[in-house]
Amino acid sequence: MNVVQQENARLRWVTLGASEANVDEGDSIIQGLQQTPKTLQCQYFYDDRGSQLFEQICDLPEYYPTRTEQSILEACAAEIAQLTGACELVELGSGSSRKTRLLLEAYSQANDQLQYCPIDVSAGILKTTALELLRQYPKLKLCGLAGTYEQALDQLHPAELENRMLIFLGSTIGNLNQRECDRFLDRVQKALKPGEFFLLGVDLQKDPAVLEAAYNDAQGITAAFNLNILSHLNWRFQGNFNPDQFTHWAFYNTVEHQIEMHLRSLETQTVALEALGFDTTLKAGESIQTEISRKFHLPTLVSGLESYALHPLQVWTDPQAWFGLLLCQRQCCEGDCP
Ligand code: AVJ
Repeated sequence: MNVVQQENARLRWVTLGASEANVDEGDSIIQGLQQTPKTLQCQYFYDDRGSQLFEQICDLPEYYPTRTEQSILEACAAEIAQLTGACELVELGSGSSRKTRLLLEAYSQANDQLQYCPIDVSAGILKTTALELLRQYPKLKLCGLAGTYEQALDQLHPAELENRMLIFLGSTIGNLNQRECDRFLDRVQKALKPGEFFLLGVDLQKDPAVLEAAYNDAQGITAAFNLNILSHLNWRFQGNFNPDQFTHWAFYNTVEHQIEMHLRSLETQTVALEALGFDTTLKAGESIQTEISRKFHLPTLVSGLESYALHPLQVWTDPQAWFGLLLCQRQCCEGDCP
């Protein structure tokens, strides 16, 4: 059941797939914890506290991706607005929308109409941000969607404006493994009409020492963020994880070109998620993988996008080529051309 609320003339509010979703959710958590190594989906980082911790990560001296992507956007937002013309902005994983403000600024200067649809699993941060943006941009019309990317892409409402740009920043695409990434890009291809746009921010391969520092900050905020997934599962599924019995572990896997985050069990323990009627035993030293964060090779990524009819029109990087921003246009392919 989708719940739609009209808060005021400029704000529409949709909660996607509320109740049935919880059932599938439970299944995939159980499935993940039955794998070797045990895994948890990284979407569970983002309860309200997790979203706040993530905001703090973005400001850490070691965590370069946010500020690097921000600097790229500062330089090219006006050009993006010019290349796409007026269009509805739909953002996956919008969080606090801090980088998107640069785009909203550019689009509001170039066009009379401004339509923004932020999508996030964390309803709290979504709502706070939406109200703030409405105050800041008098001509903005906003449609917030609380849900997962999959739900959102499969149920995207018809565009209010002629054109649409799907925005996926922060290298969040790197949290998907190859198979999930393929399914995701297939959904993007299907959600966009030929001529529409996809703006993608990706973290690029670089010195492993720089990467490992970004996920092992001196203040321990990333560790707190990682451990918070357990507290989230505890309240959501009546769990009994004791975060004190786990430690944060993050390293760069040079074969897979990905950062891996894990929670390592300090001792042999059995944990239960009562609401799911599930329990599992961890050995001392055994770890649960909570996230992968893939680091990309631009030419490989570009050809991957092309195979989903997403043609990079323009690619920007920072001077060190640590981060990339790609403006892609959905191409015509067999069956969907006039
Ligand atoms: C969600 C992709 C922006 O993988 O770098 C930050 C999440 N995890 N520190 C990333 C994260 C640990 C982040 N993104």
